[in-house]
Amino acid sequence: MDNNKGLLVEERQGEAILVEQQSDNLLGKKVYLESYGCQMNFSDSEIVASIMSKAGFETTRNAEEADVVLLNTCAIRDNAEQRVRKRLTQFQSDKKNNPDKVIGILGCMAERLKSQLLEEEKLVDLVAGPDAYRDLPNLVTEVGTGQKAVNVLLSRDETYAEITPVRLDFNGVSAFISITRGCDNMCSFCVVPFTRGRERSRDPKTIVQEAHDLFEKGYREVTLLGQNVDSYRWNITKKGAIIDDQKEVVNFAQLMQKVADVHPDLRIRFSTSHPKDMSDEVLEVMSKNENICEYIHLPVQSGNSEMLERMNRGYTREWYLNRIASIRKHMPNCGISTDIISGFCGETEEQHQDTLSLMKEVKYDFAYMFYYSERPKTLAARKFEDDIPLVEKKRRLTEVIDLQQQHSLESNTRSVGQVHRVLIEGNSKRSDKDQCGRNTQNVMCVFPKTTFKKGEYVNVRVSDCTAATLIGEIV
Ligand code: SAH
Ligand code: SF4
Ligand code: F3S
Repeated sequence: MDNNKGLLVEERQGEAILVEQQSDNLLGKKVYLESYGCQMNFSDSEIVASIMSKAGFETTRNAEEADVVLLNTCAIRDNAEQRVRKRLTQFQSDKKNNPDKVIGILGCMAERLKSQLLEEEKLVDLVAGPDAYRDLPNLVTEVGTGQKAVNVLLSRDETYAEITPVRLDFNGVSAFISITRGCDNMCSFCVVPFTRGRERSRDPKTIVQEAHDLFEKGYREVTLLGQNVDSYRWNITKKGAIIDDQKEVVNFAQLMQKVADVHPDLRIRFSTSHPKDMSDEVLEVMSKNENICEYIHLPVQSGNSEMLERMNRGYTREWYLNRIASIRKHMPNCGISTDIISGFCGETEEQHQDTLSLMKEVKYDFAYMFYYSERPKTLAARKFEDDIPLVEKKRRLTEVIDLQQQHSLESNTRSVGQVHRVLIEGNSKRSDKDQCGRNTQNVMCVFPKTTFKKGEYVNVRVSDCTAATLIGEIV
């Protein structure tokens, strides 16, 4: 789910999202929102925009004219935090011209550092963790009265279930729907369980309703979001005990079926799957439903079982390869992508080679790749030494990236000559004469514009490609 990944990730997330949206503007106040990190954060910013809009704040894409500036931040790697610090310093210096401007930090870095950025570093006026967004209007008022505006309480049940997000995207074709929050997995390298708290699932009725409303508004693609979507469960405990006899029990496969039933023209994607939990039941539902995209993001992290054990991932190399075999059996053309960490604590050259050999075996269509960045308080920070020198981490990462680049190009080259069904997302970034959209495997396709509009499905014959994009024309 994260998405500011090494080199490639930066591309997917772009710099930051700038937003503009109309509201009743009761108080004539304006809020500016900037998001970093994973899709979950971008989705949360839409909840924040909704809460702020109800409190009378219109969103603006111009930070200068905003009364409130909110940065929704990520803490997954140190460089993600450094970027935010730089940005905050910038906003602080702009504040000299407008001392009343409120600068606030939201999201995972806010949760991790709590009041530190407000009290010690004096970089912000307001701090709100991921479960405290309903409190934002109060916190803004508190800043005005000189109080300490901090709320970093994590919740066991907050899912913002009934809040209708204000869509901040520009295409109006594809949208995110959060289905779970938090994570109980405790991968040893990962800060997310500390910044997002315990895992909880959202009421399936509100999820289906949101998908339905989006379809009515013209959206044609939804991505169901969670740190580990396979552990979605409603009305049933982890051990399998039903909570309320009168209510329906829903697991992830069943939830996906319900969302797929909303309309055959609504495409379904989801992220992120966890190899230890991804079931054949999910694969069966995928292969049965035309509108569930044939694409799975299945982070492996390492190709060596001893490393995986150290990472506390809950699976071995063999288990992972068995899951890949099952995906291919159910859907021979399924797109598969992954996340990889190079240079985790104690990783030997041989173990690094195991990651490369696993990549050669799976031949991922796409990957997000990082070198290990130690995060305070995590299991790894407490138990293991961060002993791989930075130059060596980077060397290994470069090998991983180079290999993936070859595989991505090979995968796209196989598509040349084929016809793919593509959902048009809008004009291509490079030229207004071209449109772009993704095929079911999540690969971006670019083709000359015709009379078809964004939100429509077209068949594109692929004539050329790069490692990242398919190029073709509508047939
Ligand atoms: N919930 C998702 C991933 C969330 S974080 C999952 O379990 O797959 C996204 C990715 O960031 C992870 O898959 C991992 O590859 C990377 N990542 C997480 N912590 C990291 C760290 N400390 N250093 C480097 N990369 C990290
Ligand atoms: Fe982090 Fe692991 Fe949870 Fe993913 S599953 S968010 S990597 S702890
Ligand atoms: Fe996402 Fe970054 Fe938080 S990856 S969950 S925003 S630490």
